[in-house]
Amino acid sequence: MDRISSAREFQSVCDSLRIQGKTIGLVPTMGALHDGHKQLMTLAKQQCDVAAVSIFVNALQFDNPVDLEKYPRTIEADLEFAKDLGVDVVFTPKSQEMHPEPILFHLEVDRLSQALEGAFRPGHFAGVVTVVAKLFILAGRCRAYFGEKDFQQLAIISRMVEEMHFPVEIVPVPIVRDERGLALSSRNMRLTPDQLVSALALSRSLFSGRDAVAAGEKNPEKVEELMSEELSREISGIAKSDLARLDYALVVDPSTLTRPERIEGPVRLLIAARVGAVRLIDNIGA
Ligand code: PAF
Repeated sequence: MDRISSAREFQSVCDSLRIQGKTIGLVPTMGALHDGHKQLMTLAKQQCDVAAVSIFVNALQFDNPVDLEKYPRTIEADLEFAKDLGVDVVFTPKSQEMHPEPILFHLEVDRLSQALEGAFRPGHFAGVVTVVAKLFILAGRCRAYFGEKDFQQLAIISRMVEEMHFPVEIVPVPIVRDERGLALSSRNMRLTPDQLVSALALSRSLFSGRDAVAAGEKNPEKVEELMSEELSREISGIAKSDLARLDYALVVDPSTLTRPERIEGPVRLLIAARVGAVRLIDNIGA
């Protein structure tokens, strides 16, 4: 496995791989790799000649400095993890190289970014698309693998590729859950054992919403109420410091990310809650 830290070198390695006729599967990450990432890397390996993983904690997408500081950084373990999965190239740029100071250019996102996560994390998606666009420019024509756990991020990046004509095929990858239903996330590393139990309230709330839709509920607001009630029920009896506090529980149209008047076709149920100081998100199709 090759580790590359220079942006220009990563770009020229990707260019020469393509000249040799090889296809590239890019997995953008911020490190702290877990089995959710494993799924992305395994698919990249299966579907492309070369699997390239970027590991870069992108300061531009953190609206909260404490969150940035506390974000788990586990580079040595991440390199081992990628190597064991047969990843070919790992790109680990320095911040100054990805975002040379002073930063004069960045992308903005209209509409899709203002609700949901965007409302709670101002500037977050502008930071995400800015770094992802740079990664796409460096990697060039490729397939890029993104998890459905960050459903709004996936929708925004897919739209960016379409609108900006990046020569990139986005491959959405389903959420990986542990045996109790908790969606895998690098942020779970910051939860105490009690908080990990409390975090199960998110997926249980989603499952109850999904079951209601499967049973024929057509009113999205009823499903949202049910999800909030389920979250409150799950957390009753949990110590205050471990409590899951709901930011939102919503039913949206998967392409517009807005609430439909009635549930007539496929919808996505989205939930965000804070467990202790850690903000978690999860979602499910229904
Ligand atoms: O999903 C993530 O880990 C990040 O938002 C991404 C796409 C790597 C951009 O920094």
